[in-house]
Amino acid sequence: MLSLLSSLAVTWLAGQALAIDLTVSKTGGNSSSELLYGIMFEDINNSGDGGIHGQLLRNNGFQGTDPGLTGYAAVGDVTITQDTSNPVSSAITSSLKVAVPSGATGFVGFANEGYEGVPVLAQTYANYFWMKGDYSGTINLRLVGNSSGTVFADHNITVASNASAFSYYDTSFTSTASTDGNNVWQLRFDASKVAGSSLNFGLVQLFPPTYNSRYNGLRDDVASFLAEVKPSFLRFPGGNNIEGASPSDRWKWNETIGPVVDRPGREGDWTYPNTDALGLDEYLYWCEDMGMEPVLAVWSGLSLGGGIVSGDALDPYVDDILNELEYVLGSTDTTYGALRAKNGRTEPWDVSYIEVGNEDNLNSGCGTYASRFTQIYDAVHAAYPDLTIIASTTSTSCLPSTIPSGVITDIHHYLTPDEFIEEFNEWDNWSRDWPILVGEYASTTGNDGSTTYWSYMQGSCAEAVYMIGMERNSDIVKMASFAPLLEHFDMAEWSPDLFGLDASPDSITGSTSYYVQKMFSTNRGSTILPVNTTADFGPVYWVASADSDTYYVKLANYGSSTQNVTVNIEGTTSGSLELLSGGEAVSNYPHDVSITTATSSVAGSSSFTVDLPAWGVAVLAVS
Ligand code: AHR
Repeated sequence: MLSLLSSLAVTWLAGQALAIDLTVSKTGGNSSSELLYGIMFEDINNSGDGGIHGQLLRNNGFQGTDPGLTGYAAVGDVTITQDTSNPVSSAITSSLKVAVPSGATGFVGFANEGYEGVPVLAQTYANYFWMKGDYSGTINLRLVGNSSGTVFADHNITVASNASAFSYYDTSFTSTASTDGNNVWQLRFDASKVAGSSLNFGLVQLFPPTYNSRYNGLRDDVASFLAEVKPSFLRFPGGNNIEGASPSDRWKWNETIGPVVDRPGREGDWTYPNTDALGLDEYLYWCEDMGMEPVLAVWSGLSLGGGIVSGDALDPYVDDILNELEYVLGSTDTTYGALRAKNGRTEPWDVSYIEVGNEDNLNSGCGTYASRFTQIYDAVHAAYPDLTIIASTTSTSCLPSTIPSGVITDIHHYLTPDEFIEEFNEWDNWSRDWPILVGEYASTTGNDGSTTYWSYMQGSCAEAVYMIGMERNSDIVKMASFAPLLEHFDMAEWSPDLFGLDASPDSITGSTSYYVQKMFSTNRGSTILPVNTTADFGPVYWVASADSDTYYVKLANYGSSTQNVTVNIEGTTSGSLELLSGGEAVSNYPHDVSITTATSSVAGSSSFTVDLPAWGVAVLAVS
C-alpha cells in the first residue's frame, strides 16, 4: 500500500511543480570575493582588431604572415602594391604604393574595407595616415557605401609631402549614417599631380569615438555595452594568444607599447595578424576606465606549437617578465618605469595579480610546469612580494608539490549544460586554503554532443547554476570569467562568445549568457547567507547574499516546467525582480535579440513569490 501511494505521489510530482520555500538567514554565512565576476580577453575572433579596439581599417601595417593586399582596393585607374622598399618605420616594414599612369586626371587613390566592412554612423571619425612622395595639394578622405556608392563623409585636407621621408597627417571629420556595414574608407588625391609616378601611404588609421575619449582607445559603443556588465577584473592577454605558435611567436609585451608606428604586430595564435595597437598600456587604461582589477598573464615558457622553454633556458624570459613588471609597476627612476613615463603614463599601474602562463596542463606543458612556475614565482615574489600570483592550472600533477601560500590556481571549463549541473557542487568541499580562479568557462556543447554555435537558454541557465555554485563558495572562488568574450560575427574562429558584432549599425548583440553575466555581476552582496529550506537543489538552484540592508537571491530553474519559489527574508518589504527567460533552445541573434532581462517591482512583507519559468534565471533584490 505504501509503495502504491509513493508511486502515485511520484507520478503526480512529475507533472506538477512543487512549491519551493526558501528562508534566508540574516546571520552566518561566508564572505564573498568582491572580484568574483570579471572578464577574460584575448584577440580571438577579431575581438581586438576589428572588435573592441577602435581602429577600423584592416591590414594597415601589413603585419602578420604574408598579409598581401588584404583589405585594400584601387580607386580609379591606379595600381596598388605592398611596398617593402618603403617601410614606414623599423616596425611597420611595408607601405602601400599607389602608382598613377601617365596622363591620368581626376581623383584616384585606394580604399580599405575594414574588418568585413567599415561601421559608418552619424559621428565624428579621427583619421591618421603617413604618406611619402612629392605631392602638394588636396587629400580627399571619404566613407562610401561599397555597392551603393553613397558618400557618407567627404573631407579634404591640404598636405605637402615629399619623397625623402614619410610625413604624418592627423585629421577628423563627421559622417552621416549608413544603413548597413558594406562600406569602405577611401583616400584619394589629384592624379594629374602624380601622373607617371607614385605615392606611398602607411599605417592608415580610422577611429570612431573612443571609450573615455582615449587616443588609440576602445570603440565607445562596444566598450560601453561591455561596461554594463560591471566586470570586476580583466584577465588578459590570453588565453592561447599569449602562447605563440613557437617561443619566438609569443605575445611580447615590449612590442605592444609606445607609438603604434613602432609596434611590429605579430601573427596571433588564432590564425590572423594582430596589430598590437591594443597593447599593454591600452589594456591597463581599459582596466582603469572600467574599474577592473588587471589580471596580467605572463609567458611561462609554453608555446602552442609544442616549443617549451624550461630550466636555465627560461632565465632570459624570467628577466623579461621582471622587465615587464618594472614597466608596469616601477618608479620613473627605473629603466622601464621611465619608458612607461615616456609613453605617457607617469604613475605606475595598479596591478596586483599576475598569472603564470595559460593552460600549462595542456600542450605537453604539465611535466615542466612545476619547475617553470617555481622559477617564475621565486623571481617575481622576491621582487614584488605583494603581488598575488596565479598558476594556470589546478592539476596537482602539474603543480609544485607544495603550492606557495596565497597562490591562486586557474581552472577552465568548456562543458555541456548537464556537465555544468554536475559541477554545481565542485567547490563545496574544496580546501578553504586553496583559492581558485575559474579563468574560462562556457557551455560550448549541447547535451546531445552537438557544437553550440551561439548560447541558448538551456546552456546559459546551466552556466547560471554553476555560477550559483561558485558564488556559494566565493570565499575561495575569488574570480570567474566567461570565455571567450567577443566575436566579430563574420570573422569568428570560436563560438559561442559572450557578445558579438559586425560592421552593420546596431549589430552589438548580447548572447543569453551575456544577460546572465550582467544579472549576476550587477547584483552582488558582500556576504553569502545560509538559506533554510526542505527543498533539494534541482531543478531550482539558489544563492543568497547581502550588502548592508539589501538582500540578493539568485535563482536558476534548470528544468522544463515553471517552478513556484517563495523567498522569505525577515524585515524586507520591497525591491525588484530581474528575470531572464525563453524557450530551452532560444538564442539571441544579430539584429534579432529576443531574450533580455525584464525587471519588475516587487512588494511584500518579508515574503516574495517568484514564478520561475522553465530554463529561467532570476535575481530578487529586496531590502
Ligand atoms: O577561450 C578560447 C581558448 O580556450 C583560450 O584561448 C584557451 O585558454 C582555451 O583553451
